[in-house]
Amino acid sequence: MADVIRVVVTGAAGQIAYSLLYQIAKGDVFGHNQKLALHLLDIPPMMGVLQGVVMELQDCALPLLQEVIPTDSVDMAFKDVDAAFLVGAMPRREGMERKDLLAANVKIFKDQGEALDKYAKKSVKVLVVGNPANTNALVCSHYAPSIPKENFTAMTRLDQNRAQYQVAAKLGVGVIDVRNVIIWGNHSATQVPDVANASYTKNGESKRALPDLDNNWVNNEFVPLVQKRGAAVIAARKLSSAMSAAKAACDHMRDWWQGTQSGSFVSMAVISDGSYGAPKGVIFSFPVTTSGGQWTIVQGLTVGDQVRSKLELTAKELLEERDEAMAVCEGKL
Ligand SMILES: NC(=O)c1ccc[n+]([C@@H]2O[C@H](COP(=O)([O-])OP(=O)(O)OC[C@H]3O[C@@H](n4cnc5c(N)ncnc54)[C@H](O)[C@@H]3O)[C@@H](O)[C@H]2O)c1
Repeated sequence: MADVIRVVVTGAAGQIAYSLLYQIAKGDVFGHNQKLALHLLDIPPMMGVLQGVVMELQDCALPLLQEVIPTDSVDMAFKDVDAAFLVGAMPRREGMERKDLLAANVKIFKDQGEALDKYAKKSVKVLVVGNPANTNALVCSHYAPSIPKENFTAMTRLDQNRAQYQVAAKLGVGVIDVRNVIIWGNHSATQVPDVANASYTKNGESKRALPDLDNNWVNNEFVPLVQKRGAAVIAARKLSSAMSAAKAACDHMRDWWQGTQSGSFVSMAVISDGSYGAPKGVIFSFPVTTSGGQWTIVQGLTVGDQVRSKLELTAKELLEERDEAMAVCEGKL
């Protein structure tokens, strides 16, 4: 067995963490041969609830789990961590727009960026789930200047998984048979789900998803459904997506840690180098491949005119969020 790695989950008493912790602790993310210690961060009023989560982890009798540290101290939570799932934030309630969330949440990510900078390993891989995830990841990275910017990512994998399911259902195949659906941009209603480079396997034959998916379905049903799926789950459950968000967080970190499969790419929001006309320096969702713990943006893909104009909208939103977040952090708002 490899040495023990340290993994922090913030918002550890919350609903996403409740699904996430079990999957991490049983080896679904870092490998079924990788021992780990879990650091669980939440706020002081949640320490009683967190103790219950710790009891349940103990009661799972998980062979890989060597240690569990529940805490309300960021110093202890981030000490020597190899991987960080930053889930803890105020969730979006019914009728609440993402912008309302921004001011409340970016300060949390400023504090946590500073703590990561001081206490985490410089190689730490950070996945931000708490919304607005892209901008929170940017803020966190900004306040952790000693850690490479490539180590900060935000989650659009839930959007990818939602899109992949819809495409598979439409084509009458399993989700495993669909590859390379892309989510571009922000994890918000301006995100750009894109099937132009997707392919699928049916009856042993590999085909491009287009033109088998007609444009009318793609533009008028598929894209709005994926963009608004989070709001639809909230309307139905009166709570934001949790089981599916936890699964997506595991998929994201597993692929980053263990590598993507040959011929497949996944969507991750990462620091933009200006590829595909995205603004440089924001956390933008791109198609990436991963190997050896590093991600690489896939280059040379077809981007249709319709997708390109939507990319401008999501880019504009990310630039506005960045400016607003930095103003909040600097006490100007
Ligand atoms: N990126 C995505 O695809 C995606 C999908 C679903 C939900 N989310 C977001 O994930 C976040 C968590 O959702 P949830 O349903 O688990 O919410 P939840 O309210 O059930 O849990 C959030 C937890 O975070 C804790 N918390 C608040 N401030 C904290 C801080 N400063 N440090 C540590 N913990 C803190 C809360 O006490 C709570 O226990 C929300 O922001 C939600 O919008 C993102």
